[in-house]
Amino acid sequence: MSARSVTAVASPSLALVKYWGKSDAKRNTPATSSVAVTLSGLESRTTVTPTPPDSEEDVVYIDGAQQPAERFSRFFENVRRVIESDLHFDAKSTNNFPTAAGIASSASGFAALTVASARCAGVDLPPENLSAIARVGSASAARSIFGGFTHLAADAEQATTLFPCEHWPAFRIVVVAITTSGKGVSSRDAMERSRRTSPYYQSWLEDAKLRSEEARTAIEKRDIERLGTIMRLSYLRMFSTMFSCDPPIIYWHPTSLSLIHLCETLRGEGIGAWETMDAGPQVKIACLESDTEVIIRRIEELRPECRMYVCAPGTGASIIETDEW
Ligand code: PMV
Repeated sequence: MSARSVTAVASPSLALVKYWGKSDAKRNTPATSSVAVTLSGLESRTTVTPTPPDSEEDVVYIDGAQQPAERFSRFFENVRRVIESDLHFDAKSTNNFPTAAGIASSASGFAALTVASARCAGVDLPPENLSAIARVGSASAARSIFGGFTHLAADAEQATTLFPCEHWPAFRIVVVAITTSGKGVSSRDAMERSRRTSPYYQSWLEDAKLRSEEARTAIEKRDIERLGTIMRLSYLRMFSTMFSCDPPIIYWHPTSLSLIHLCETLRGEGIGAWETMDAGPQVKIACLESDTEVIIRRIEELRPECRMYVCAPGTGASIIETDEW
């Protein structure tokens, strides 16, 4: 039975080991295996309603702005194929953090949209299937369906949970929002340019094979130092493929670099602050709860203009409201 409207929430999936590149652009499957944590407190909230029966269009608004239909067409076509329905959808989504600026709003947004659309069509699917649907919109969204620490293998259609959030309650990510403006180059275009033009792309794929298993072991042992070391190798090698593109892609701002240096200084003082970055200028710092206060104070002293969000391992996507006919 389809619903009049369904509201779902999901949180961003922050990759500790990065996926960068597609194994198959059409299926939107990742070229590299990634390990991530779902971030508590940051949230996309999406309400989906079926459009009138004669309507042939899906409409998506994010934070009040209508989105280009082509960004969502493949996603919705796949939803209709899976749920065996010709229903079209009207979706309104809001984020309580900056959109399209490298804080994985596409991961949380597509995860919430997936859960709400399936339920709206009256279909109850297991999380694995929802993960595969979300992946078509954004590969990192496949991970956002699940809570805690997650894994998306190279060429996989769906993500899996490695450890639930309770596994490491002291683990924190400090998200430092340097600018709220959207990114210049989409991650999709940047990945494609890396594949086509970076002389280091093949080495990136080869090297990335080792990182996920190493990260899984570090998380299992709750070893922040080991995990932090792997995180830094992963994001800096990912960016090396972008710096070496033709033309080069540089998401970093001077403030990003000053925070990378601050983390190095903090580690020199015995404070475990391990940074990572994605397709945008924001810096995310992995640490333990006990070090969070001092890390925040030092960032405030250095860059008082930055906004910060402190996130623990969070829960997966869920439905919060259903309005039945
Ligand atoms: O899910 P996409 O297509 O927006 O790409 C996300 C890519 C990174 O955030 C840079 C890495 C990752 O694994 O999330």
